[in-house]
Amino acid sequence: MQTVTRNHIATALERLPRFRLSHLDTPLEDAPRLRRAIEATIPVAANESRNGKTNSLAPRILIKREDTTGLAFGGNKGRHFEFTTAHILENGYDTVINVNDYHSNQARFIAAACARAGLRYILVSLDNLDEPLTGNLLLCKLMGTEIHRVPADYADKMVDRLKDDLVAEGKKPFVLPREKIVDLSGVYGFVEAGLELEHQLHEIGVTGPVRFWGLGGRSISGVRLYAKNRGLPWSATAVMYSPGAEETFNEIAARRSQGVAERLNLPYALEEGDLDLLTEYTGPAYGVPFDGVFEAMYMAAKSEALILDVNYTGMAMAALIGEIREGRVDPSVPVVFLHTGGLPQVFAFAEEISDFSSSFSSPDLSGD
Ligand SMILES: Cc1ncc(COP(=O)(O)O)c(C=O)c1O
Repeated sequence: MQTVTRNHIATALERLPRFRLSHLDTPLEDAPRLRRAIEATIPVAANESRNGKTNSLAPRILIKREDTTGLAFGGNKGRHFEFTTAHILENGYDTVINVNDYHSNQARFIAAACARAGLRYILVSLDNLDEPLTGNLLLCKLMGTEIHRVPADYADKMVDRLKDDLVAEGKKPFVLPREKIVDLSGVYGFVEAGLELEHQLHEIGVTGPVRFWGLGGRSISGVRLYAKNRGLPWSATAVMYSPGAEETFNEIAARRSQGVAERLNLPYALEEGDLDLLTEYTGPAYGVPFDGVFEAMYMAAKSEALILDVNYTGMAMAALIGEIREGRVDPSVPVVFLHTGGLPQVFAFAEEISDFSSSFSSPDLSGD
């Protein structure tokens, strides 16, 4: 299998236009107390029947701290939008129109990027019309966003109207979800995270197989694409966060990675099977968390002071805990959990998070 060097990938990334927004490299941290907390919740009987002795049931867990990219509460979009913002500026756009869900981290991060780049930003925020202005949406407001809250089925009309008005005023609007660069930039960002991770893992002596764990999207795809083109023994589990066909996800991941591979001159794109998809942790609907998410948030916070969010990273951790309990995660292969951020939405779920505390029994880690 023909692979490429680190230098090849680094040089190809350096050639891309870029507008710096993030504090990089992000740390890679061990989470031994979280590992023990998870193990403490696995019934002893399962332990004995699987091993005949009390070996570890949970793998070593490392956390890639993408929540610490810094700008406006950080998160994975810090990497994504360095490339998108440069593209917007280079092409002379003066206004960004974006359409996103009420909970959207992306909406917040584009507000941050626009504030830094001096661009006007208009957000069409979908549904949840009676929900308070809090979390990400509140931060958008603070950063100068013009917010239009509309039902989802009115979004296209709203965007067309906004765009036509701007053009009539002589402006040049960039309509975010309709532009291809947005699809590619997150994958570029996480191919670069791959460069960091290979180095960081090497530094701590982890040179064999590793399983990456994150939400199904551009970030985990970028890391897997990096590994494939470097010939590294890294596998990846992508936890789906909203209901939808696996095939559609595989097609999108393949198409995005194809575009990135062409631009970075990489021999391989992603194919079906490169990402192991987990579809059983989506919960009832996007933005509606289930108890496993709250449990995961409490476990991570109490054991490692690791704050996860309700819609994304809490779900990815709930999936990791669930799969470890089921004995479906190889304990001999370290897991690198991509903490992709999403922190501001924690506050939008204050009541639910607080209510759950009485159902959570904390594993006893005293003395550890
Ligand atoms: C915090 C967070 N993690 C993960 C994702 C998954 O998608 P992607 O990797 O494409 O950003 C999202 C999507 O919005 C997100 O907000």
